[in-house]
Amino acid sequence: MSRNLLLGFLFLLTLNLHQALASLLAIDYGSEWIKASLMKPGVPFDVLLNKDSKRKIQSSVGWKNDDRLFGSDAYNLASRFPTDSFNFLKYLQGVPFDSEAVSYYATLSSADTVKSSRNTISLRRSDGTEWTVEELIAMQFSYVKELAESVAGEKVTDVVVTVPPFYTQAERDAVVDAIEIAGLRTLALVNDGTAVAVNYAMTRTFPEPEVHIIYDAGASAIRTTLVEFSTVESTGKGKPKSYTQVNVLSSGFDRRSGGTELDRRLVKILVEDFMNKNQIDITKDKRAMSKFRKEANRLKAILSANSEAVSTIESAYKDIDYRGRIKRSQFETAASDLKVRFVIPLHTCLAKAGLTFENITSVILTGGASRTPMIQQAVRSTAGEDKVAVNVNADEAAVLGAGFYGAGLSRQFKTKEIKVSDVYMYDIQASYTTVPKGGGSPKTITSTIFPPSSNTGSKKTLTFKRKDDFSIKLLYKKIPFIDHSQEVVEAKIGGVAEAIANLTEQGVFEPVIKTTIALSESGFVSISDAIAVGEVKQDSIKDKIKGLFGGGSSDPPSPTSTSTDSEPTVLTDESTTVDDTPKPLGAEISVPLTIDFEFGPTPPMTAEEKRAARTRLREIDNIEGSKRRTEEARNNLESYLYKLRDLLSDDSETPFTKCSQPGERSAIQNKLEETLAWMHDEADNADTKQFLEKLSGLEGLERPIAHRYREIEEFPKALNDSQMWNWSSRLFITEAKQNLTAEAEGGPPARYTQAEIDALEKVLKEHEAWLAEWVAKQRQVPMNQDPVILTSEMRARAKTLENHLQKLWKKKAPSKKKSKGSQGSTSGAPSETATPGNDKGQKSHDEL
Ligand SMILES: *[C@@H]1O[C@H](CO)[C@@H](O)[C@H](O)[C@H]1NC(C)=O
Ligand SMILES: *[C@@H]1O[C@H](CO)[C@@H](O)[C@H](O)[C@H]1NC(C)=O
Ligand SMILES: *[C@@H]1O[C@H](CO)[C@@H](O)[C@H](O)[C@H]1NC(C)=O
Ligand SMILES: *[C@@H]1O[C@H](CO)[C@@H](O)[C@H](O)[C@H]1NC(C)=O
Ligand SMILES: *[C@@H]1O[C@H](CO)[C@@H](O)[C@H](O)[C@H]1NC(C)=O
Repeated sequence: MSRNLLLGFLFLLTLNLHQALASLLAIDYGSEWIKASLMKPGVPFDVLLNKDSKRKIQSSVGWKNDDRLFGSDAYNLASRFPTDSFNFLKYLQGVPFDSEAVSYYATLSSADTVKSSRNTISLRRSDGTEWTVEELIAMQFSYVKELAESVAGEKVTDVVVTVPPFYTQAERDAVVDAIEIAGLRTLALVNDGTAVAVNYAMTRTFPEPEVHIIYDAGASAIRTTLVEFSTVESTGKGKPKSYTQVNVLSSGFDRRSGGTELDRRLVKILVEDFMNKNQIDITKDKRAMSKFRKEANRLKAILSANSEAVSTIESAYKDIDYRGRIKRSQFETAASDLKVRFVIPLHTCLAKAGLTFENITSVILTGGASRTPMIQQAVRSTAGEDKVAVNVNADEAAVLGAGFYGAGLSRQFKTKEIKVSDVYMYDIQASYTTVPKGGGSPKTITSTIFPPSSNTGSKKTLTFKRKDDFSIKLLYKKIPFIDHSQEVVEAKIGGVAEAIANLTEQGVFEPVIKTTIALSESGFVSISDAIAVGEVKQDSIKDKIKGLFGGGSSDPPSPTSTSTDSEPTVLTDESTTVDDTPKPLGAEISVPLTIDFEFGPTPPMTAEEKRAARTRLREIDNIEGSKRRTEEARNNLESYLYKLRDLLSDDSETPFTKCSQPGERSAIQNKLEETLAWMHDEADNADTKQFLEKLSGLEGLERPIAHRYREIEEFPKALNDSQMWNWSSRLFITEAKQNLTAEAEGGPPARYTQAEIDALEKVLKEHEAWLAEWVAKQRQVPMNQDPVILTSEMRARAKTLENHLQKLWKKKAPSKKKSKGSQGSTSGAPSETATPGNDKGQKSHDEL
């Protein structure tokens, strides 16, 4: 894809705006790398660079003693401070402490995992402090937020974050919690394959519908997204428009067969080799394991291009080095069981949609691990060589697509119109207990609300005949992944008896309970609304109205009431809202019910917990900020001291020596020595204020010297300025007098009266007198003495003269000049005389 074309195109589009806009951040948060993009009017839409101008940032945070580090700085800490470097945190989002994820994680990282108060995972630093996964990821989001803000030049709050399509509710909650702790606002979560599809559609048109598979091989997982692209002509009123429709049909995945799993296989080879050679078990040694992991990651890249690689790790374990030679074939054998797992997701997504490879145009490879030969070969041999396409940027397609997707949602940006319809991967069921009639035992009823591949952004209504409070559980049909809970959420519907009584009292016949179950665009399932509702018993007036509508039966609302309460009836989704069926006004009344949620074994953070986490992060931000300011103040002072030292030690005729007196120089010398000594002895414990005080103490001594030099530099310019106005005024007076004389001799009427000319002449004379006197005095002042007149005063006086002249000029031919309309002081000035440098322009000169 042509990057330039794409960026230019977006740049134009984003400029076409009609309201005040906020910047929009997109984050593609991977288990190994973070990519981010910023959309802001006037800023070319692109991937954000980190402080080292890299286009991707390692998904790491860590501490070196008290210094918090991010990106590769944090990642590289692992071999020396294995329990202070936090990587691969994505594996730990939204999972319970006692889970496969935690034991798998232990093979990727030597960090200490502990149980959080919510039964999820925290990580423990070497100093004993514990941080939840959400907090650590929030720190990384915050870091990205700061990068974005430095590019945007303003606060950035709205964010779109990519998630794998297989993310469960608990995992999505963990992402949103981290976003909020970071002080960001979730505009949306978007499935990563969907984001890539949007990126693919950004620069393409689809005269004929096309179906593609986005094959995304990331560090942690493989996922596939089957997508149909088409161009839809919308035939509304006015100009015909068309937009691109991106329809996600299905998806597939393998959570544990990405690039990191390949690393693990390599680690095993290397570590076993080392242990065989040295007859030591190092698998429990955190430092050693961290070193081998880092090395495996490096080797994997080499083996992608070479059939053999040499590995060297200095002091791999204690002081024993490791040297080994790894063949690609050895690596491939160790990973041979993965080959089938690389391609199962392809078959899954096709099968779900009832399609075969024949029905698709291409398999679009994306994700960092899609470059691995083993993975590419597996895909090529399964899908067919001619089907595999490498036509999106494997690293950046998702984050650019996510940014574009967010821009479409926020409706603030005018972009190419792409409509996206996504699906949810899991079946969602509702389960509740019946109230048996006549004393039988209660039954649990479970029914499917959203079958697999239901569209996100849809709603269903469930209707119940209940007299008392009850609860509804939302469940996955099957456990989504080992150790994940089947339960999504339990909603307790309250206030039922009161509401029913209320409605009955108002004359409602057989009120029912309606609950709305929502599947949001971001893939969250929830009960969004619950009401008691029913139709008021007919009276004569209502009967008449009913008659008009041809209804008029006494049937209670819709199909619902005919069913017993043993089965909920799914009445509607968003597109056909039952409440909109024509009814006489006021016939149906409702009372809202309360909904209390109970979460499964890994609940999302409460608002209070998030606030506390946010405060905690802000505190370390503040401490770091103040440390940074102290360091800055110290650096500023230090470089100032060196500058002064250089000035003092230069024996040649520098401006500094010319403009200073010996006494001044020795005073600076003394203070400099004193400050240098202080720096040496006390700077390490000093605070910002002390550094600033030392700095301003020295600056106070240097300032008069710098001031003299500046004045000497400025003087000729200020004088020229004054003389130019002096000269202009003289010219003007001469001409005006001539015109007056000409008028007296019968010529055309003069524009200025004698009185006006005299007044200007008076001001001019004063100006000249002052200038002559003080310029003469100033010329006597030696360079190392303070000036007797300031250039600022010279300019102020010239300004007085200028203003007087301007006023007269403005009087001249006012009607002709009016259309120009500008109020600048030179607007009406005749060109040949009017442009001596005015107050703008040259200000200060270099300091000494
Ligand atoms: C998929 O391809 C098969 C074989 O070419 C064809 O019979 C079928 O109609 C296609 N299905 C769709 C939905 O295009
Ligand atoms: C019924 O509920 C409505 C709205 O919730 C309330 O305004 C009204 O006072 C209630 N009536 C009775 C009789 O409780
Ligand atoms: C003098 O008269 C000429 C000709 O009318 C005119 O262009 C010029 O602006 C006048 N100058 C002043 C200072 O009045
Ligand atoms: C003002 O300008 C006139 C004419 O150019 C010049 O003769 C005179 O010396 C100037 N006066 C001063 C103080 O610069
Ligand atoms: C004085 O100012 C004028 C107009 O800005 C400029 O053209 C001229 O070179 C200046 N002369 C000196 C000596 O700075």
